Amino acid sequence: MKFALAFGNYGHIEVIPLVATKFDNCECILLYVLEAAVVWKSGEQVKLEEIQVDPPKATEVRIKMICASLCHTDISVCNGFPLFFMNPRNTSYNETHIHFILSTLHQPLFPRIPGHEGVGTIESVGENVTEVKEGDVVMPLYLGECGECLNCKSGKTNLCLTYPIRFNGLMPDGTSRMSIGGEKIYHHFNCSTWSEYIVIDSNYVVKVDPRMELPHASFLACGFTTGYGAAWKEVDVKKDSTVAVLGLGAVGLGVLEGARMRGAARIIGVDLNDMKREKGDAFGMTEFINPADSKGKSVSDLLKEVTGGLGVDYCFECTGVVSMFDEAVEASKMVSIFCTSDFIGTLYIKGLGTVVLIGANQSSGVVKFIPLLLGRTVKGSIYGGVRPQSDIPTIIDKCINRVLSSFNLFTFREIQLDELLTHKVSFHEIDKAFAHFKQPDCVKVLIKF
Ligand SMILES: NC(=O)c1ccc[n+]([C@@H]2O[C@H](COP(=O)([O-])OP(=O)(O)OC[C@H]3O[C@@H](n4cnc5c(N)ncnc54)[C@H](O)[C@@H]3O)[C@@H](O)[C@H]2O)c1
Ligand SMILES: [Zn+2]
Ligand SMILES: [Zn+2]
Repeated sequence: MKFALAFGNYGHIEVIPLVATKFDNCECILLYVLEAAVVWKSGEQVKLEEIQVDPPKATEVRIKMICASLCHTDISVCNGFPLFFMNPRNTSYNETHIHFILSTLHQPLFPRIPGHEGVGTIESVGENVTEVKEGDVVMPLYLGECGECLNCKSGKTNLCLTYPIRFNGLMPDGTSRMSIGGEKIYHHFNCSTWSEYIVIDSNYVVKVDPRMELPHASFLACGFTTGYGAAWKEVDVKKDSTVAVLGLGAVGLGVLEGARMRGAARIIGVDLNDMKREKGDAFGMTEFINPADSKGKSVSDLLKEVTGGLGVDYCFECTGVVSMFDEAVEASKMVSIFCTSDFIGTLYIKGLGTVVLIGANQSSGVVKFIPLLLGRTVKGSIYGGVRPQSDIPTIIDKCINRVLSSFNLFTFREIQLDELLTHKVSFHEIDKAFAHFKQPDCVKVLIKF
């Protein structure tokens, strides 16, 4: 006998004979029909649709989402980011592949389900999954970590070669687990957290300590961790250095916290929105610049002005605005001279300024060559260089554990994320999340299933 059980919204069981005809084994296959936020075309709003989610394959898990959140990249994703690109010269592609690739080269793939931040409970696991089990609370992530490939072993990057970021919107086996009326739906990277249930390879999930506040765990799945990690893992900000952060969304606020944790002496936040001043203060910012207050001066002029003309040791670009990249380069030091407390009065050349590019944009700008030729270092960063399996548990611990203040006066959490959560919506009001995100007082919108 062939049949499939489809669980409608929250546990309603119906038999769907149409679906059953797809399977030829004499077994009960659990295929979920549920709601997800689908984008059909570049620039269109998300639409709640009833979709089908397949059962997990051997190394995969299916997750019932509890909450999700909005990262700026999700807005870009609704507008077509990232453009799908494959190298047609790769000899493993046959002619049909090449035809497909050429027709999709630089094309955004739709329909797709956005969302790459969230937390959920594992509902079922494939037969080869051992690291997690039904009932575990997990964060689905867009990066995996095998621990054994050249990149993982290098200790220098979080970009695993075995479990890479999946720009083609498909699972590692080149297929999707989501469909609507028989049509394939693309995953966002491999997450798509704006769906009641998702399927993901088990290497891309990280267990969440039950003591962690779930909205906070959702924020760690991308934005905040990206910034925090950029200061910590990507460039390892040096003690007593001067740091500038362009753009104080969740990513920029994460950089502030990371720079504070590394002992930076000056942490300068730059944002066009004055309401970010208060948020920046909560995450360790020591100075704030709103470029709109100084008409006619560029961001790099303003940062040089407050650093005696030298510029900063580290400049983190977290706006995603193309022209801000040049500003970040110009604002970073050509020569970094400082004196240590060990040898007061002795000037040391510490190195040149480092620019960390985090903001994402698929348009290109004109890069000014000369400021780069003068020796600055530019570092691009995905997820702040944070390795999902090795580093996320450390960040979670810092969010949970309390540490003693100086003189044992009080205890506090090393990372306190309450200030990030500014707006909440239910999943059925997900369209409102976009309107909230545009509000000046918004940092993070939490979506509750
Ligand atoms: N590389 C990665 O792994 C990664 C991960 C997450 C997000 N991102 C990208 O990082 C960027 C920031 O993400 P977010 O979620 O924090 O975004 P956000 O929209 O919450 O924050 C951006 C901030 O930049 C400010 N801003 C915009 N233009 C500015 C300008 N010209 N000058 C000064 N400030 C300006 C805005 O007022 C806002 O406060 C986005 O481009 C996002 O796509 C990259
Ligand atoms: Zn690896
Ligand atoms: Zn993100």
